[in-house]
Amino acid sequence: MSNLTGAGKVVCVTGASGYIASWLVKFLLQRGYTVKASVRDPNDSRKTAHLTSLDGAKERLQLFKANLLDEGSFDSGIEGCEGVFHTASPFYHDIEDPQAELIDPAVKGTLNVLNSIAKFPSIKRVVLTSSIAAVVYNGKPRTPDVVVDETWFSDPDVCKESKLWYVLSKTLAEDAAWKFVKEKGIDLVTINPAMVIGPLLQPTLNTSAAAILNLINGAQAFSNFSLGWVNVKDVANAHIQAYEIPSASGRYCLVERVAHYAEIVKVLRELYPGVQLPEKCADDKPLMPTYQVSKEKAKSLGIEYIPLETSLKETVESLKEKQFARL
Ligand SMILES: NC(=O)c1ccc[n+]([C@@H]2O[C@H](COP(=O)([O-])OP(=O)(O)OC[C@H]3O[C@@H](n4cnc5c(N)ncnc54)[C@H](OP(=O)(O)O)[C@@H]3O)[C@@H](O)[C@H]2O)c1
Repeated sequence: MSNLTGAGKVVCVTGASGYIASWLVKFLLQRGYTVKASVRDPNDSRKTAHLTSLDGAKERLQLFKANLLDEGSFDSGIEGCEGVFHTASPFYHDIEDPQAELIDPAVKGTLNVLNSIAKFPSIKRVVLTSSIAAVVYNGKPRTPDVVVDETWFSDPDVCKESKLWYVLSKTLAEDAAWKFVKEKGIDLVTINPAMVIGPLLQPTLNTSAAAILNLINGAQAFSNFSLGWVNVKDVANAHIQAYEIPSASGRYCLVERVAHYAEIVKVLRELYPGVQLPEKCADDKPLMPTYQVSKEKAKSLGIEYIPLETSLKETVESLKEKQFARL
């Protein structure tokens, strides 16, 4: 990614201080883009210092203040742009009020950003950070012979029955986005990554990196759960490819490999033999089967996935460097 395809072009990134967005901003600046980046509080240096110190930031990064729930707050940042990367959306598990803390910011926030985009015809394409969460929860069984692909859509009723509130928030937000752009004729591409790991640029701990931190910081047991994994640098690159490749369209699942937590622990044990890791599964049920996720569409974005082993090593090294890991 050394060619300056973004030179002279202005794009907006929402939720720029986040884990994925920080890598996206870094790569956009590297490619020569001018980036208008939304943060909730531009005066909070824990949310901004890692962005303003990026190469090219001094010349080509402009921060603006916006909240997903404040109508019109994205107008000034989106005005004058030719592309928008909408990544902002809450990703937490520890919540009290799913509607207020997850669903409203995800759904109303996405519509709020799209309403701003609809005001400015200069926007050529919108790339939305959706999630594999909006793909796999449709009630169909997932077993090693099943291949999930972009035609799958999560079913809100399945999410509600299982009280999967984050999954529901992403499912409803992506659905609302597709309906909105169809009506308004906006060019939308969605990126649907699995669990994102790899190095952290931001100083705070994000939810997906916390899942790995938990394993290396003394958890007694690992979850009986299989899920897809992908490196944050591949996710950020995929956003840019989805923006730049004219023929890109629809949804792109991003999964290097589906692996059970037992497998994650096994890889960590091989990488870090001296580290105490959970020996047992959190329940006595059979291990949840793995499944496959099609790589065909992602291949058309030129993504050659960083292997899971490398991603896990990068995550742990980053967690050590930032002194989250007590190793
Ligand atoms: N990490 C994963 O495994 C994964 C997988 C698939 C999809 N995703 C999606 O990727 C996107 C980024 O997630 P991430 O993993 O990078 O998590 P993150 O580090 O927690 O980033 C979330 C971002 O959303 C912003 N945000 C939350 N509520 C907001 C509000 N009310 N107004 C404005 N901004 C708000 C946060 O701002 P503050 O910094 O101010 O809190 C933060 O910048 C999300 O859409 C998430 O659903 C993540």
